[in-house]
Formats: sequence, C-alpha cells, structure tokens
Amino acid sequence: MAELLKVNDLHAGYGETVVIEGLSLSLQEGEALSILGRNGVGKSTLLNTLMGLTTQHSGTLQYLGKDIGKVPSHERATSGLGLVPQEREIFPSLTVHENLRVAQQPGEWDAARIYELFPRLAERRRNMGNQLSGGEQQMLAIGRALIGNPRVLLLDEPFEGLAPIIVDGLVDAFRKLRQNSRMGIILVEQHAELALELTERAIVLDRGMIRWEGPSRHLLREPDQLAELIGLGAE
Ligand SMILES: Nc1ncnc2c1ncn2[C@@H]1O[C@H](COP(=O)(O)OP(=O)(O)OP(=O)(O)O)[C@@H](O)[C@H]1O
Ligand SMILES: [Mg+2]
Repeated sequence: MAELLKVNDLHAGYGETVVIEGLSLSLQEGEALSILGRNGVGKSTLLNTLMGLTTQHSGTLQYLGKDIGKVPSHERATSGLGLVPQEREIFPSLTVHENLRVAQQPGEWDAARIYELFPRLAERRRNMGNQLSGGEQQMLAIGRALIGNPRVLLLDEPFEGLAPIIVDGLVDAFRKLRQNSRMGIILVEQHAELALELTERAIVLDRGMIRWEGPSRHLLREPDQLAELIGLGAE
C-alpha cells in the first residue's frame, strides 16, 4: 500500500499567525483517519493547509512522495486531493448536475455513480445549488469532491448541523464509498464516537498540536479518556 500523505513538523496559519504548530502525520492508501478536537484547535486549518489554502511557515508536506508545499491549490486538487469544506461551498446558481460536472476528472467516479450513492441528488439534479436542503447540499459537496476522483478525500465536519436521519444516510454512503476503495480519507468531526467508528486511526488536536494519536478503537473503549481529550464534560 502506497503512502499517500506524509506531513512532518508542519507549521501553518493565516499570514503571520501560526495555528498549526509542529504537526506530523501520515496517511496510507485505503486508510481513514479521524481528526478530533474542540472548536478552534485548528482542524479546518490543517485540512486547508493540505489543500494549499493557508500559509505554510515550515515543515514538509509530501503527497505520493513528492513535496507539494509550494504547489498551488488548484494543482493539488487536480492531482488527487479532494476537500469537502466545512462551509460546503456549493455554487448557488448552478444546478446539482452542473455543480458535479464542473468538478469531473477522469476516473471511476462519474455523475451516474454519484447519483447511485445519493439517489436524492438524482431527483434534484435540475435544482439550483441554492434550492437544496442542508443535507442535500452536503451530499452535493461530497459528490463534487468524489467526482474529482481524489486519492485523498478530506472531509471537514460532514455531519455538522444535520438531522439524525440525514446523518444516518450520509454515514451509510460513507461506508459504501469505502468498500473496495484505495482512497485515503481524513475525517474531521465533532461527533467523536461516530468518527471513531468510521475510521481506523485517530488524532486529537489541541491548539494546533497533536495531543493524542492511536487506533480509533482504543478511544471508543475508553470513553472517559475521550471525554477528557476533547473536553466533552466542559461543553
Ligand atoms: N481565515 C482565517 N484568518 C485568521 N485566523 C483564522 C482564519 N480561520 C481560522 N482562524 C483561526 O485559526 C484557529 C483555528 O481555527 P480552525 O477553523 O482551524 O478551527 P477548527 O478546529 O476547525 O474549529 P471548528 O471545530 O469550530 O470548525 C482559530 O483561532 C481561528 O480563529
Ligand atoms: Mg473547522
């Protein structure tokens, strides 16, 4: 199995501000990694840094063995990094189908397969982006990343703000898209237990640094430690 990402001693942020302070991680083909942590610890900043959307101050960031620290964001996207941003960022004045089509890159994922994964999107294919429910927008945001046929899929709180029944549907889709897939996935989530159930490894961030890392099942078996790490009791 190939190593998709290798991040070493990464420092990154916005302009002069440093948010990620010395973070290292790796991601293998076919593996899913959770990134957990309270609000504002730098989870989105980490994903955005992998995509080249922030300022990288130091450290190295390798994708498939090549340093991509200076590669512009659009090139990272076309070379196999796909982000589902926290704000979803659907094009409001394009239809569902057009939102998908503009992101199509060669590979096994095409519109038909996205509609198979999310039948609801097929029903809404002629609706404009701004006519969708929150759940539909999230399906479209995920579909738009998948249709770019990424080797690494970065999901920033895909279940945030959605009704439980919608979350259940997205969770089913997540499990399906992992079947027989070599895609590597980084899942940022506030729903810690759910994220741990869906991934093999986890990292807990605190103020831009790794506070804990290990097998997801370990934290699932240790709810007190999990609560202590992500501050459930304090919220
Ligand atoms: N565009 C920006 N410019 C400057 N600072 C930012 C910007 N975006 C985020 N920050 C700051 O970076 C820090 C980390 O924010 P980030 O959004 O990465 O946290 P997060 O872990 O994703 O939080 P949440 O769980 O609320 O989404 C915060 O202090 C935040 O205020
Ligand atoms: Mg965030």
